[in-house]
Amino acid sequence: MSVLVTGGAGYIGSHVARILQQSGTNVVVVDDLSTGLDSRVLGLPTSHLELSTQGATSTLEALMTEHKVSAVVHLAALKQVGESVNKPEQYFLKNLGGQANLLTAMRNTGVKKLVFSSSAASYGVPDVDLVSEDQTPNPINPYGQTKLIGEWMASNAETAWGLSHVSLRYFNVAGAGWDDLADTQKLNLIPIVFAALKAGSKPKVFGNDYQTPDGSCIRDYVHVMDLAKAHVAALKYLDTDTRAHNVFNVGTGRGSSVVEVMDQIKTTTGIDFEYEMAPKRAGDPPSLIADVRRINNEMNWKSENGLAEIVESAWKAIS
Ligand SMILES: NC(=O)c1ccc[n+]([C@@H]2O[C@H](COP(=O)([O-])OP(=O)(O)OC[C@H]3O[C@@H](n4cnc5c(N)ncnc54)[C@H](O)[C@@H]3O)[C@@H](O)[C@H]2O)c1
Repeated sequence: MSVLVTGGAGYIGSHVARILQQSGTNVVVVDDLSTGLDSRVLGLPTSHLELSTQGATSTLEALMTEHKVSAVVHLAALKQVGESVNKPEQYFLKNLGGQANLLTAMRNTGVKKLVFSSSAASYGVPDVDLVSEDQTPNPINPYGQTKLIGEWMASNAETAWGLSHVSLRYFNVAGAGWDDLADTQKLNLIPIVFAALKAGSKPKVFGNDYQTPDGSCIRDYVHVMDLAKAHVAALKYLDTDTRAHNVFNVGTGRGSSVVEVMDQIKTTTGIDFEYEMAPKRAGDPPSLIADVRRINNEMNWKSENGLAEIVESAWKAIS
């Protein structure tokens, strides 16, 4: 079996590519290196292709044929919520145009298995704390919209030409499975706090009067290594005949508040830093925790790591 991993030079994609490679699967990477790093995919066949460009379909078809690709894990996407509000056209063009080219190439070459990187951003601001896949999705920004439409594109391909697909809705991904695959962007809480500590500045906590035990937001942090293993489970699941669902949450089913994350970072780093309270941000739900019963039951996948392992591995990888 050979698996094409789009976005394989990215933070999550490189973990997926490496875990597949280590389990004996042939891996081919497609990544335009807009945020990815070549150093994460040394030794893997890699095409520096931007998926939404004209001609991308034929390049993909040639790659799929040459490497006898039988399944695709599609992670390549722009993922900055704020940027997506300011440049919605870019997000629709690159995320959805890229996916349209990818699906066309898969259809033309008969590659019928897809695992798609979706996001808890598909849910928007749900009115429940524990979010199941049955919650009606209602994304509140262009980024989240591209993820939900990406799921629909996969479902339409199933109807039209028999694509088998799974969309994984990741919650808050953090940690590192290997030190050279650290999350080097400063977009999520843990890397942002580490960057502030390295710069000698105070990290910010946005909001302290949410209806939560310590007043700060609660999120479900999933270790990137556990998430990578969920992709392996999803690929296996696509080989089974008794599939009941296409959409799965990936999280731990447990929440940690921003203050608890700060406390864990203090414990792990040994740095007794202070943080600054800042006003709430628009669109931040008080609590967002994945209901993970579906993926637990149907794919037999469970997260193995908690917040301590996440923070420790992330800190080790950047130290
Ligand atoms: N990090 C998270 O917490 C999180 C949460 C939910 C969903 N996701 C999704 O997971 C996927 C991977 O995220 P990540 O955190 O690893 O981000 P990342 O930016 O590290 O990885 C994305 C990779 O895709 C590549 N890429 C982007 N657009 C491309 C295009 N048009 N053509 C070819 N390559 C392109 C980038 O160079 C990069 O290597 C994304 O689809 C993202 O939406 C991430």
